[in-house]
Amino acid sequence: MISFERVCKSYGQTPVLDEISFKVRPGQLVVLIGPSGCGKTTTLKTINRLIEIDKGNIYINDRDIAQTDRVKLRRSIGYVIQQIGLFPHMNVEQNISVVPKLLKYDRQRCKKITHEMLNLVDMPYEDYAHKYPNQLSGGQQQRIGVLRALAASPPIVLMDEPFGALDPMTRHVLQEELRRLHKKLKKTIVFVTHDMDEALAMADIIIFMEEGRITQKASPDEILRNPANDLIRSFMGKRSLENENLPQTAADIMRDNVVTASKSRGVRDSVELMSRRNIDTLILTNPDDTFAGVVSVDKIKRKGKGHKNVETLMEVNYPFFYEDEDGQAAFDKLIDEGVNYVVVLRRDHTVAGIITKTSMARSMADAVWGNGE
Ligand SMILES: Nc1ncnc2c1ncn2[C@@H]1O[C@H](COP(=O)(O)OP(=O)(O)OP(=O)(O)O)[C@@H](O)[C@H]1O
Ligand SMILES: [Mg+2]
Repeated sequence: MISFERVCKSYGQTPVLDEISFKVRPGQLVVLIGPSGCGKTTTLKTINRLIEIDKGNIYINDRDIAQTDRVKLRRSIGYVIQQIGLFPHMNVEQNISVVPKLLKYDRQRCKKITHEMLNLVDMPYEDYAHKYPNQLSGGQQQRIGVLRALAASPPIVLMDEPFGALDPMTRHVLQEELRRLHKKLKKTIVFVTHDMDEALAMADIIIFMEEGRITQKASPDEILRNPANDLIRSFMGKRSLENENLPQTAADIMRDNVVTASKSRGVRDSVELMSRRNIDTLILTNPDDTFAGVVSVDKIKRKGKGHKNVETLMEVNYPFFYEDEDGQAAFDKLIDEGVNYVVVLRRDHTVAGIITKTSMARSMADAVWGNGE
């Protein structure tokens, strides 16, 4: 979709882009990140030819953009500039309609687009279309900035630190919204930030730039695991997964304190216990406290009539792992077989805990962000 081939740009003697090459596939959300002055904005502006390059080529859909009409090119690419940049003397509808008007869409069509755009972010037309930027919160202004870039439905959208001016909460909400819009509208997005959290949250691919060069292009996972150099590592801070104390064994990713009951427990008693503890499956034990099996509330509802205790309803071949076994095997079981949880046993077959998707996510989060920090 977008392809850079050995692109160079200098101001006077100073190279700002030094043989930049990369490709962005259709529908990808690519994040450019790097220290201030490394050339992120410059790279972005070369895509819609706000900045002309000295050497190399940039292709969009295999067409060299140097051969494309600049004005047409620019109208076919959405652009959210660094800082908010709404036109203060235009209301929301007029701001959103800037490019559609340039494309000579009639009033009715512009109004329809404004409607649709505002709907995307849950800002009703009736309430917001006629407000001016200074009557909106920072987050709302930024939403309109994004909608304005999307209004003429361009296949490519460039965003230069669009959420840089916002408080962390609003920023987080808008990141989520943009991810959702990206999925829904299937745009190709090049997004600039210098915030690694934002990059990790948003990106399909992260491109790390330093002094006009690309020093790493990788998925968020890969860059967390293998930062290419010390600067990138320092951008990661303690999020880096390298050499971290990652959860390894089943015990590392389980939750303990699980509710168990004797397999001789009565049916009605078991249902009461489950409803009191708000669980839908009960782990059952033998008289010597070893693991016997599980019973689900569904099963009891369907087949419980005529059974005295849960033993006769219990599923005996339920998947389990020993606590010192590899956590990844447990993970695979959970994901591949679609079970709600797996049971973790001590080597003496007593119940140590269960692994659920939530317990796993929590242990990963602890490893990445630190425990309770
Ligand atoms: N018109 C210009 N004339 C001369 N130098 C320029 C010009 N525009 C940008 N530069 C220089 O080019 C380099 C890259 O600038 P650019 O705006 O692309 O950085 P950036 O990565 O977007 O930084 P930031 O994170 O601060 O926005 C900087 O050193 C900047 O000073
Ligand atoms: Mg910049």
